[in-house]
Amino acid sequence: MDKAKIKLKVNGSWREVETRSDRILLDLLREELGLTGTKKGCEAGECGACTVIMNGRAVLTCLIPALKADGAEITTIEGLADEGRLHPLQQAFLEKGAVQCGYCTPGMVLAAKALLDENPEPSVEDVKRAISGNLCRCTGYTKIIQAVRAAAEVIRADGSETAGPAEATKQARTAVHP
Ligand code: FES
Ligand code: FES
Repeated sequence: MDKAKIKLKVNGSWREVETRSDRILLDLLREELGLTGTKKGCEAGECGACTVIMNGRAVLTCLIPALKADGAEITTIEGLADEGRLHPLQQAFLEKGAVQCGYCTPGMVLAAKALLDENPEPSVEDVKRAISGNLCRCTGYTKIIQAVRAAAEVIRADGSETAGPAEATKQARTAVHP
Protein backbone atom coordinates (compact mmCIF):
# COMPACT_ATOMS: atom_id res chain seq x y z
CA MET A 1 0.00 0.00 0.00
CA ASP A 2 1.28 3.50 -0.90
CA LYS A 3 2.52 5.77 1.84
CA ALA A 4 2.69 9.53 1.94
CA LYS A 5 3.89 12.18 4.36
CA ILE A 6 1.34 14.67 5.58
CA LYS A 7 1.57 17.66 7.90
CA LEU A 8 -1.29 18.66 10.12
CA LYS A 9 -1.73 21.03 13.04
CA VAL A 10 -3.18 19.10 15.95
CA ASN A 11 -4.15 20.86 19.16
CA GLY A 12 -1.91 23.78 18.26
CA SER A 13 1.22 21.86 17.19
CA TRP A 14 2.29 20.96 13.68
CA ARG A 15 2.91 17.23 13.28
CA GLU A 16 4.40 15.40 10.35
CA VAL A 17 3.30 11.81 9.86
CA GLU A 18 3.84 9.16 7.27
CA THR A 19 0.59 7.36 6.59
CA ARG A 20 -0.83 4.72 4.29
CA SER A 21 -3.16 5.92 1.57
CA ASP A 22 -5.98 3.69 2.84
CA ARG A 23 -5.80 5.01 6.43
CA ILE A 24 -8.75 6.91 7.89
CA LEU A 25 -8.13 10.02 9.95
CA LEU A 26 -9.59 8.32 13.03
CA ASP A 27 -6.86 5.66 12.97
CA LEU A 28 -4.16 8.22 12.26
CA LEU A 29 -5.18 10.22 15.34
CA ARG A 30 -5.54 7.23 17.62
CA GLU A 31 -2.75 4.95 16.46
CA GLU A 32 -0.12 7.22 14.99
CA LEU A 33 -0.57 10.31 17.15
CA GLY A 34 -1.74 8.50 20.31
CA LEU A 35 -4.85 10.68 20.65
CA THR A 36 -7.16 7.96 21.93
CA GLY A 37 -9.69 10.44 23.31
CA THR A 38 -11.21 10.32 19.83
CA LYS A 39 -13.40 7.23 20.00
CA LYS A 40 -13.99 4.50 17.50
CA GLY A 41 -17.64 3.47 17.30
CA CYS A 42 -19.54 2.45 14.20
CA GLU A 43 -16.81 3.46 11.69
CA ALA A 44 -19.67 4.22 9.31
CA GLY A 45 -20.56 7.84 10.02
CA GLU A 46 -23.52 6.98 12.21
CA CYS A 47 -22.58 7.38 15.87
CA GLY A 48 -20.49 10.57 16.14
CA ALA A 49 -18.01 9.03 18.60
CA CYS A 50 -15.12 9.92 16.28
CA THR A 51 -15.99 13.64 16.00
CA VAL A 52 -13.19 16.22 16.04
CA ILE A 53 -13.05 19.83 14.90
CA MET A 54 -11.24 20.22 11.57
CA ASN A 55 -10.75 23.67 10.08
CA GLY A 56 -13.49 25.01 12.36
CA ARG A 57 -16.11 22.36 11.64
CA ALA A 58 -17.17 19.26 13.52
CA VAL A 59 -16.31 16.28 11.31
CA LEU A 60 -16.49 12.49 11.49
CA THR A 61 -12.96 11.17 11.32
CA CYS A 62 -14.08 7.66 10.38
CA LEU A 63 -15.23 9.05 7.03
CA ILE A 64 -12.16 11.13 6.20
CA PRO A 65 -9.11 9.64 4.50
CA ALA A 66 -6.03 10.59 6.52
CA LEU A 67 -4.41 12.09 3.42
CA LYS A 68 -7.22 14.66 3.24
CA ALA A 69 -6.02 16.10 6.54
CA ASP A 70 -2.79 17.35 4.97
CA GLY A 71 -2.46 21.01 5.99
CA ALA A 72 -5.56 20.89 8.20
CA GLU A 73 -5.99 22.31 11.67
CA ILE A 74 -7.55 19.82 14.05
CA THR A 75 -8.77 20.01 17.63
CA THR A 76 -9.32 16.78 19.54
CA ILE A 77 -10.62 16.40 23.08
CA GLU A 78 -7.00 16.39 24.32
CA GLY A 79 -6.68 19.98 23.09
CA LEU A 80 -9.53 21.48 25.07
CA ALA A 81 -8.20 21.92 28.58
CA ASP A 82 -5.89 24.88 28.78
CA GLU A 83 -2.92 24.94 31.16
CA GLY A 84 -4.57 22.79 33.78
CA ARG A 85 -8.03 24.29 33.42
CA LEU A 86 -11.01 22.45 31.99
CA HIS A 87 -12.93 23.93 29.09
CA PRO A 88 -16.34 25.17 30.33
CA LEU A 89 -18.02 22.45 28.26
CA GLN A 90 -16.02 19.76 30.04
CA GLN A 91 -16.78 21.33 33.41
CA ALA A 92 -20.49 21.63 32.63
CA PHE A 93 -20.70 18.01 31.41
CA LEU A 94 -19.24 16.91 34.74
CA GLU A 95 -21.40 19.21 36.84
CA LYS A 96 -24.68 18.44 35.05
CA GLY A 97 -24.18 14.67 35.07
CA ALA A 98 -23.96 14.59 31.27
CA VAL A 99 -21.28 11.87 31.35
CA GLN A 100 -22.12 8.28 32.19
CA CYS A 101 -20.11 5.60 30.38
CA GLY A 102 -18.26 8.44 28.64
CA TYR A 103 -17.90 6.80 25.25
CA CYS A 104 -19.85 9.49 23.40
CA THR A 105 -18.47 12.34 25.48
CA PRO A 106 -15.40 13.47 23.51
CA GLY A 107 -17.35 13.60 20.25
CA MET A 108 -20.32 15.22 21.93
CA VAL A 109 -18.15 17.91 23.56
CA LEU A 110 -16.42 18.71 20.27
CA ALA A 111 -19.70 18.89 18.34
CA ALA A 112 -20.90 21.28 21.05
CA LYS A 113 -17.70 23.33 20.86
CA ALA A 114 -18.08 23.77 17.12
CA LEU A 115 -21.60 25.02 17.79
CA LEU A 116 -20.58 27.49 20.52
CA ASP A 117 -17.71 28.81 18.40
CA GLU A 118 -20.33 29.83 15.81
CA ASN A 119 -23.32 30.52 18.02
CA PRO A 120 -22.56 31.65 21.58
CA GLU A 121 -26.22 31.69 22.61
CA PRO A 122 -27.80 28.49 21.26
CA SER A 123 -31.42 27.55 21.87
CA VAL A 124 -32.36 24.03 22.91
CA GLU A 125 -33.23 23.37 19.27
CA ASP A 126 -29.84 24.67 18.12
CA VAL A 127 -28.09 22.29 20.52
CA LYS A 128 -30.26 19.36 19.48
CA ARG A 129 -29.43 20.04 15.85
CA ALA A 130 -25.69 20.36 16.53
CA ILE A 131 -25.51 17.04 18.38
CA SER A 132 -28.02 15.21 16.19
CA GLY A 133 -25.23 13.10 14.66
CA ASN A 134 -23.86 12.09 18.06
CA LEU A 135 -25.49 9.10 19.71
CA CYS A 136 -25.60 8.62 23.47
CA ARG A 137 -26.95 5.37 24.82
CA CYS A 138 -26.82 6.43 28.48
CA THR A 139 -27.98 9.93 29.30
CA GLY A 140 -31.18 10.50 27.35
CA TYR A 141 -29.62 13.76 26.03
CA THR A 142 -31.42 16.11 28.45
CA LYS A 143 -28.39 16.58 30.68
CA ILE A 144 -26.13 16.99 27.68
CA ILE A 145 -28.31 19.77 26.30
CA GLN A 146 -28.39 21.43 29.72
CA ALA A 147 -24.62 21.17 29.96
CA VAL A 148 -24.03 22.75 26.56
CA ARG A 149 -26.30 25.68 27.36
CA ALA A 150 -24.74 26.10 30.82
CA ALA A 151 -21.27 26.19 29.25
CA ALA A 152 -22.45 28.77 26.73
CA GLU A 153 -23.60 30.93 29.61
CA VAL A 154 -20.24 30.62 31.37
CA ILE A 155 -18.34 31.52 28.21
CA ARG A 156 -20.60 34.49 27.58
CA ALA A 157 -20.30 35.66 31.18
CA ASP A 158 -16.55 35.70 31.49
CA GLY A 159 -15.34 35.39 27.91
CA SER A 160 -13.01 32.63 29.07
CA GLU A 161 -12.81 29.19 27.56
CA THR A 162 -11.36 27.55 30.64
CA ALA A 163 -13.02 26.40 33.81
CA GLY A 164 -11.55 23.83 36.20
CA PRO A 165 -8.65 21.45 36.88
CA ALA A 166 -7.48 19.44 33.86
CA GLU A 167 -7.03 16.27 35.89
CA ALA A 168 -10.79 15.86 35.98
CA THR A 169 -10.90 16.07 32.18
CA LYS A 170 -8.33 13.37 31.87
CA GLN A 171 -10.36 11.12 34.16
CA ALA A 172 -13.55 11.91 32.28
CA ARG A 173 -12.13 11.08 28.90
CA THR A 174 -9.76 8.21 29.50
CA ALA A 175 -10.62 6.39 32.71
CA VAL A 176 -13.18 4.13 31.07
CA HIS A 177 -12.01 4.02 27.45
CA PRO A 178 -8.30 4.69 26.98
S1 FES B 1 -17.05 5.99 14.47
FE1 FES B 1 -17.34 7.67 13.15
S2 FES B 1 -19.44 8.05 13.16
FE2 FES B 1 -19.24 6.26 14.36
S1 FES C 1 -22.52 8.59 28.23
FE1 FES C 1 -22.59 6.52 27.52
S2 FES C 1 -22.97 6.72 25.40
FE2 FES C 1 -23.15 8.73 26.15
